[in-house]
Amino acid sequence: MKKLTVNVNRGYDILIEKGLIARAGELVSGVLSGRKLALISDTNVYPIYGDGVKASLEAQGYTVFEYIFQAGEASKKPSSVIDMLEFMADKGFSRNDGIVALGGGVCGDMAGFAAAIFLRGIDFVQIPTTLLSQVDSSVGGKTGVDLPQGKNLCGAFHQPRLVIIDPNVLDSLSEHFFADGMGEVIKYGCIKSSELFERLEKENPKDFIEDLIFQCVDIKRQVVENDEKEHGERALLNFGHTCGHAIEKLWNFQTVSHGEAVGIGMVMISRAGEQAGITQPGTADRIAALLKKYNMKTADTHKTEDIINAMGADKKRTGTALKFVLLNSIGSSFIKPVAMEDISKLFGENQ
Ligand code: GLY
Repeated sequence: MKKLTVNVNRGYDILIEKGLIARAGELVSGVLSGRKLALISDTNVYPIYGDGVKASLEAQGYTVFEYIFQAGEASKKPSSVIDMLEFMADKGFSRNDGIVALGGGVCGDMAGFAAAIFLRGIDFVQIPTTLLSQVDSSVGGKTGVDLPQGKNLCGAFHQPRLVIIDPNVLDSLSEHFFADGMGEVIKYGCIKSSELFERLEKENPKDFIEDLIFQCVDIKRQVVENDEKEHGERALLNFGHTCGHAIEKLWNFQTVSHGEAVGIGMVMISRAGEQAGITQPGTADRIAALLKKYNMKTADTHKTEDIINAMGADKKRTGTALKFVLLNSIGSSFIKPVAMEDISKLFGENQ
C-alpha cells in the first residue's frame, strides 16, 4: 500500500492501493470513533459500491444511514447540503458521529461541507471514485457548493480524517470521466513536474495508475502543507481554472466537463503567456497535444470576450485584480495578479 501523510493542523493519511475499498470499514474504524455514520453517495456510484461499503462499515459495529443524491453538478447547491444536515439531525447524529463520502468531486465537496458545518464540524472520510477526485478534490480540505453566480462560491476548509483511494474503481469509469480527471493530472505536470508531463507524453497512464495517483497526490500534499488556506502557493493548483470556471459557467455547468474546461483554460492562459513573452514558446502546443492524446478539447467555441466577462465572479478575484497562474515552462509556474482592465490585453491580441 502507498501511504502519504498530510501534515496540516489536523494531519491525516491518504492510502492508495488496488482493492482497498473492500477494507473501508476497518480503515474508517481507525479514525472515526462515533457509532453513527452517514454514507453519502450518488445515484451512479451507490448502486455499484454502496452495499459493499455499507456492509464493511456495519461489520465494524457502525450504524450506517445511506444518503443518496441525484448524480451530477446540478445537485451541488446549498439546498442539497441543508437536506443532508436535516437528514443527520433527524437521525440524532452527535458531534462524535461522522460522514463517509463515497463518490466523485461533487459528492466529496458536498459531504465535506456538510461535515464542516453540522454541529460546527464533525469528522469525515473520503472514498473518491473518480480520477479527478482521487488526484485532486478529495485531498486538501476544500469543501463547498456552487451558487448561481459561480462555482464553489460557498464553502469551508475542512480536512478529512482519512482518504481511501482504490484505483480499481476507475475501471467502472467511462473514457469521458477518465479524460476529465486527466485534465487535473496534466495540470500537476504543468505546474510542478516536467518529468510527470514527459511520462504522460510517452506512456499510457493506465499502465502506471497507482504511481500516477501517488505522484499527483504527493504534489498536492506538498502544496497544501505549505499553504493550507490558499494565501499563496496553493493558488498554483488553480492553473487553467480561471478560464476553465468561466467556460463551465458559460455552458451552465453542462456539456463541457470540469477537466475539459481546465484543459482549455491551460491552453488559453499558456498562449496568452507566450504572447506576453512570459511562457516558453511552444508550451501551449505541447499542452494541447497532450490533451488531444486523451481526446480532450483544446479550445472553446465562445468568444474570448465572453469568457473574460464570465471570469468576473471568480473566487480568485482580489479587489480589482484576478490571480492568474502562468507557466515559465512546463513544470515551473507562478501566480500573477492581473488588473481587471488589463485582462483583455492579456488575452486580446492572440485569441
Ligand atoms: N483544487 C484546487 C485546490 O484544492 O486547491
